Amino acid sequence: MSPDRKYLLGGLLFLLGISSLVIIFQIPDRAETIPGSKLYREHCSACHGQDGKGFRALYPPLADSPYFAEKQAMLPCLIRGGIRGSLVTADGSYNLRMPAFPDLTPADLSTLILYLQTRWGKTNRDSSVKNIEQLLLPCP
Ligand code: HEC
Repeated sequence: MSPDRKYLLGGLLFLLGISSLVIIFQIPDRAETIPGSKLYREHCSACHGQDGKGFRALYPPLADSPYFAEKQAMLPCLIRGGIRGSLVTADGSYNLRMPAFPDLTPADLSTLILYLQTRWGKTNRDSSVKNIEQLLLPCP
């Protein structure tokens, strides 16, 4: 092989290496491919963060929220109606308003809650549209 060709081959391999790195880093975070991530990004992440870690003493983190465990049945009403007044969680006390989301349909809530549960819940609860509709009945 002539020295020219060696350089050419080396250059090509280098480019191939760079482009595969570009492809690897473009593969989205696995959580981003779950349906519901779009709803979360549009409606929730501004306050609770894309990683769900919340923001300082203003917005609570979502991981280990009781609303993904023993208070799961209250989650559809919480999202629909927002929160007013103070809220004490394991991470501290919060006292800002969380807006209501009256436009989210039971189907939206079902997709969103499945996403929340998958990322931050410990137990897998029924988030079917039918169940969400039932849980929305007693909302104030
Ligand atoms: C404008 C900011 C804001 C947005 C947007 C928002 N939240 Fe909140 N959220 C809050 C605040 C503030 C609290 C705490 C309430 C308080 O201080 O009384 C809270 C509390 C919560 C809690 C209870 C946390 C715990 O540890 O018990 C959950 C669950 C929750 N939000 C889910 C959501 C979901 C799901 C969305 C999107 C549909 C959302 N939030 C959108 C501000 C926001």
